[in-house]
Amino acid sequence: MEKLQAALDKARKSREKETAVSDAVSVSPPPRKVARPTSLDAMWQNLSTFDVTDEQLLRHRVVTREATSAAAPFDILRTKVLLQMRQNGWTRLGITSPMPQSGKTTTACNLALGLGRQRDLRAILMDTDLRDPSVHEFFQTIPSHGIGELLSGQVGFEEQAVRIGDNVACSMAIQPESDPTRMLLAEETANVIARIEEEYKPDIMIFDLPSVLPRDDTRAFLKNVDCALIVIRANTTRYKQFDKCEREVSEHTNVLGVVLNAHMNTSDFMQDE
Ligand SMILES: Nc1ncnc2c1ncn2[C@@H]1O[C@H](COP(=O)(O)OP(=O)(O)OP(=O)(O)O)[C@@H](O)[C@H]1O
Ligand SMILES: [Mg+2]
Repeated sequence: MEKLQAALDKARKSREKETAVSDAVSVSPPPRKVARPTSLDAMWQNLSTFDVTDEQLLRHRVVTREATSAAAPFDILRTKVLLQMRQNGWTRLGITSPMPQSGKTTTACNLALGLGRQRDLRAILMDTDLRDPSVHEFFQTIPSHGIGELLSGQVGFEEQAVRIGDNVACSMAIQPESDPTRMLLAEETANVIARIEEEYKPDIMIFDLPSVLPRDDTRAFLKNVDCALIVIRANTTRYKQFDKCEREVSEHTNVLGVVLNAHMNTSDFMQDE
């Protein structure tokens, strides 16, 4: 009897030891390799985020984060652009102008945040004005890597892009690029953009471009977009400049439309003598 009791005690002690070991294992599981998220939602959620105050946005005339009356003209533009692009199966929109300071970046940022209010859409805004980037100033955010590093393949979109809200990602610059035309023309740039589109499946990609007439930058890049909006500025853009720009753009892509910025009425558009 005593022998049996001793055997039972031994068996119990041995079970207790095993339990203690398995508890220890469950408390600190072996380190696992962190898997890259596979679902699209997880990929978007994994992008770093940034925020900007309404006051900062307003300072740059970005008014579309809320559905206010100030946002209405940009919301109309957003809806027209979306419908027309969908009808044609287009996803990439360039925003350009004949000459600088016409309102391209203002239009691009307002479109992007207006699209962000459409919860069922995903949008990507890229600051492809590599010579004189300004989206980071509009959004008061310096990314950890500039868009040049992304386009030249040195870093991935997941490291470079930053997200505002759930569904708008921005690739912004830190500083001007030293040879923007080369980068905008490069095959590597086209490949990087194609890869981002393939992986992140945005409904629309907006490219804030330089103006057409002063340099070759926009011409070099237009092959990468499905269509372009031309922004002209009332009281500033001359008709001849618009005409030349429209011809240039239409040689390389589809002209989606013309935005007359800062106008009180259409006679503000400068006619040449
Ligand atoms: N409708 C408007 N009314 C008054 N000012 C405006 C309007 N749209 C833009 N601006 C101002 O004009 C300036 C140029 O605008 P923005 O930077 O959007 O133009 P751009 O075409 O992107 O310029 P750049 O060629 O330098 O990239 C900014 O100070 C902006 O706040
Ligand atoms: Mg600009």
